[in-house]
Parts: sequence; structure tokens; C-alpha cells
Amino acid sequence: MNDPGSTVPAATRRLAPDAAGLGEAAALLRAGGLVAFPTETVYGLGADATDARAVARIFAAKDRPRFNPLIAHLPDTAAALAEGLFDDPARRLAEAFWPGPLTLVVPARPGTGVCDLARAGLPSVALRVPAHPLARDLLDRVGGPVAAPSANRSGRVSPTRADHVLADLAGRIAAVLDGGDTPVGVESTVVACLGGTPRLLRPGGTTRAALRAVLGFEPDGPAADDADRPAGPGLLASHYAPRARVRLDIVSLEPGEALLLFGAGQPEGHARACATLNLSPAGDPAEAASRLFGVLRDLDASGAATIAVVPIPADGLGEAIRDRLARAAAPR
Ligand code: TXA
Ligand code: MG
Repeated sequence: MNDPGSTVPAATRRLAPDAAGLGEAAALLRAGGLVAFPTETVYGLGADATDARAVARIFAAKDRPRFNPLIAHLPDTAAALAEGLFDDPARRLAEAFWPGPLTLVVPARPGTGVCDLARAGLPSVALRVPAHPLARDLLDRVGGPVAAPSANRSGRVSPTRADHVLADLAGRIAAVLDGGDTPVGVESTVVACLGGTPRLLRPGGTTRAALRAVLGFEPDGPAADDADRPAGPGLLASHYAPRARVRLDIVSLEPGEALLLFGAGQPEGHARACATLNLSPAGDPAEAASRLFGVLRDLDASGAATIAVVPIPADGLGEAIRDRLARAAAPR
């Protein structure tokens, strides 16, 4: 069972972040296999974006309920420009934030290599040039666009280390390239540039303030906490869900709950928490984002029925953190 294109690999290999591991990962991807790899945001589940059969394996491995469009990852801006049509705002955003945690949805260039299935049949294409050195090296070696959603089972918490990937996908994918913890910890910001005012589809690792500074105006788009009105295909309300129920903006803790803290404050009743973790004792949104998904997994492992979360301010990366927590708390 060493056929890399096989839907169910016998075992998932953990590849070292060295030249040999990168070479293996690129070869598996070129042969139509699925390889998870680190980006600066979260681990992606990669497949050759030009190969519809390989892309179909992503949906099978993740148990994705439907064919949501995927982000095509490119090694540099020039490669991304070859796949899409960039208007002036798109060009400025690409120049300012690539490589980095920003995804641009733009009209697909006629003849783009990104297959219809990866685009879910849409006339647009989502493009991203990640900043992680391993991701860039891997994309260089593959030599074409790599489609990659977050490397978790559909609807689950996104992975920020190789062990998270294996917990969800072992036996379902060919390999994971182990690059340790991902530094940003929440997914890329998704901005659609399809003519007119750019639209923020998903808050993420590039802050609204940073976008505004480059554009000179506020992008259209969802307010923080607007979790039940999906702004883009695949932006389901319930998402990033741990097993436990999630309760937000608590002022007091109920018995038996696990407690998720931010900053120095403690809610009433904190002493009765069955488990307590702090995203950032110093109240730093960047530290909190980098720890968010790992801490959710750890609190889930405590066995508590409910994870209670103290209020987290919406400024900077706080907007993305609040967005992910609102989805984790949404009715399932
Ligand atoms: O940080 C990230 O963005 C990670 C890493 C691996 O790059 N990837 C990621 O992919 O989060 P995924 O598939 O979990 O989320 C991609 C989002 C989805 O919400 C999808 O609906 C949206 O981007 N998207 C993709 N193509 C689109 C399109 N043509 N129009 C509108 N939204 C699109
Ligand atoms: Mg995801």
C-alpha cells in the first residue's frame, strides 16, 4: 500500500523538516498524494491543485460535507499573479502582505491551472503566498499551485502542530511534514477583490487595522461575532468545534466547567473549574492567537462538558480569536 495516490494510505508518515523530508513531501504531492505541511497560520492539507483526483482526496480525508472552494498556495507573488486577475486593491494588498497570512479571492485567470474542483466551480480563485520557510521551500519544489484547507477533520479545531494533524488524519493521508508549532495560530484573513470595495470574508492573521492602513479605507465585511451569517461559501456558522460545548463572555463559572482565561482577570467561581488554561496571562492577542487551537484541544481533553471563556477584546488579532470562538460556540 505505498501508492501515494491511494485514498487510504496504510500509515501516515511523519517527515522531518530537512531536505530529505521536503523532497519526499514534494514527490508525494506531485504523485497525487495528500501531505500536511506547516504554514505560519495553521497546518494545511495539501494536494496538487491542478489534479482534480488529488483534490477530491482532500474532501474524502477531511469528511467535508460538500465541495467548499479551497485556497491555492503559491511560492511567490509572481506565481500567484499567473493564476488570478488582480485589480488595484488586490495588487496593493499582495504587495503589502505577501508572503504572509492573507488570502485573496480574485477572478480566476482564464487558463488557470487551479482545477474546477478546487474552486468549487466558481469563476473566482483563492490565492495565498504563505510566509513559513518550510511551506515556501515545499511549494518551490512542487512547482505548481497546492490546494490546502486546514489539516483537520471537517468542522473540528484547526491543527497548529503535527500531532494535531495525526490525531485527526492518521491513516487517511500520506504524510505530515513536521515543522513544530505554527507561529500565528489562526488561519489567514480572507479578502475578496472582485471589483468594487474589497470584502473581508474571514478575519484572520492579518488584522483589519493593517488592511485599512494599506487600502486607506475600511474593507466591507462581517463585523466581529457575526458568526451566523456566512460571508463566503464554506464559512459555516458551526466550525472549529471542540467536543465540549463552548460558553462565551462569561462573568461567572458554573460547577464542572473548564475555564479559558485571557489576561490577569478571574471570573467569579473560578476556583471550581475542573481545568484552567490561560491564552495569554499578559493579555497579548498575538500570543493568545498562537495558543488558541492547542488550548481548546487541551481543555477538551479534560473531559469537561463545557468550556467557559472569559471576554476577549476584539482589537488586533482579537477579532479573529473572537470569530473562531463564536463558531466553536455556535449551535451544531
Ligand atoms: O491560513 C489558512 O488560510 C489555512 C492555511 C492552510 O493556508 N487554510 C485554510 O483553508 O484555512 P480553509 O479551506 O479551511 O478555508 C478557506 C476559506 C474557506 O472559508 C472558503 O470558503 C474560502 O476560504 N474561499 C476559498 N475560495 C473562495 C472563493 N472562491 N470565494 C469565496 N471564499 C472562498
Ligand atoms: Mg478550516
